[in-house]
Amino acid sequence: MTSPLANPMPSSVTRSGDAVQVGSVRVPGPLALAPMAGFSNLAYRVIARRYGASLTTTEMVSAKALASGNEKTRRLLDRDPSEKPVAAQLFGADARDLSEAARIVADLGFDIVDVNMGCPVPKITSGGAGCALMSDPAQTSKMIERMVQASPIPVTVKIRAGLDDSRRNAPEMARALESAGVAGLTVHGRTRQQLYSGRADRRLIGEVKTAVRIPVFGNGDVNSPSEAEDMLAQAGVDGIAIGRGALGRPWVFAQIRAVLRGESPPPAPEISEVGRLVLELMEGVVTLYGEGTAMRIMRRLASDFSHGLPGGARFREGCVRVCSRADLIGLVRTHLHYDGDLPPSPVEPPAGGPLPLPEPGGG
Ligand SMILES: Cc1cc2nc3c(=O)[nH]c(=O)nc-3n(C[C@H](O)[C@H](O)[C@H](O)COP(=O)(O)O)c2cc1C
Repeated sequence: MTSPLANPMPSSVTRSGDAVQVGSVRVPGPLALAPMAGFSNLAYRVIARRYGASLTTTEMVSAKALASGNEKTRRLLDRDPSEKPVAAQLFGADARDLSEAARIVADLGFDIVDVNMGCPVPKITSGGAGCALMSDPAQTSKMIERMVQASPIPVTVKIRAGLDDSRRNAPEMARALESAGVAGLTVHGRTRQQLYSGRADRRLIGEVKTAVRIPVFGNGDVNSPSEAEDMLAQAGVDGIAIGRGALGRPWVFAQIRAVLRGESPPPAPEISEVGRLVLELMEGVVTLYGEGTAMRIMRRLASDFSHGLPGGARFREGCVRVCSRADLIGLVRTHLHYDGDLPPSPVEPPAGGPLPLPEPGGG
């Protein structure tokens, strides 16, 4: 196999504006927001898209619950008309559940259905789902083949580097999934055993890229234009999925896009504009979940925006205790110096009232 390092990608400029073709779906640019349970809610996704994320994915939901008609689970798959193309992420370990859930997801208007094979959380892996599916590529790909045959929309899969250091089997898994008809892959370059420690292995992501012909999104530790260029150069991937690097910094998509086009990155917003964004996100999360649940979600989401800002530590101390919109508005006015009007919600209220909280997850 050709080493991706021995054969680096051409300069990033030649990739500028690259669309990624995922089966029948054209993703208009190379940057995706990685799914993050508890964080990548609809309001956050809409804001990330505004800054240049070309593909967004829902937080993961249970294929079994969806297939068995669970209304609460179906309602977790909320999306916005502006979110296009958009993927719904499922976890599951049964071909019938995944097939039925893929049909439901397509009926709900999603463009892509993504299967989680990266989640290391025991609650998910003990049922054979998430990263556990990487332990038997042959069996797993048979299951996915059935799902692909049943699915009206392209099926993609998000995998890890492997299970542990002795089983870094992402390239083998990728080949098996490609044979099963999967239209694209996202590869988080850490093993299940690593969880989030160490650094994502870009050489291994590059091995996956050279092992298959379907598009590959590289994932792990991309939080700046230079990290994005490094991912492209080292792994030669078609696109990049950005998770934690976009938390509290959705403008990172605009910065990376500019640099990939050979332009200077726009500066990070002024502190008061960061404050305005926090309030816009808050209004969106309140619109989706209702004030009580929303403020629990916002404690962490809002804190992330303040890293590196003067007065950020005080803002974060306050975020731990916010219980109401008024609490967070006060914190933003005091520490992030935004004194303009309360921005409107970036999303419409969901039909049927406030959404339930998503599954705790990981990948
Ligand atoms: C809080 C949190 C929740 C996550 N939830 C999911 C999930 O629901 N599905 C998934 O495939 N990956 C999930 N992930 C993994 C991320 O998508 C991504 O693979 C990982 O964070 C590495 O990329 P990053 O360094 O860009 O964050 C989650 C990660 C975090 C930190």
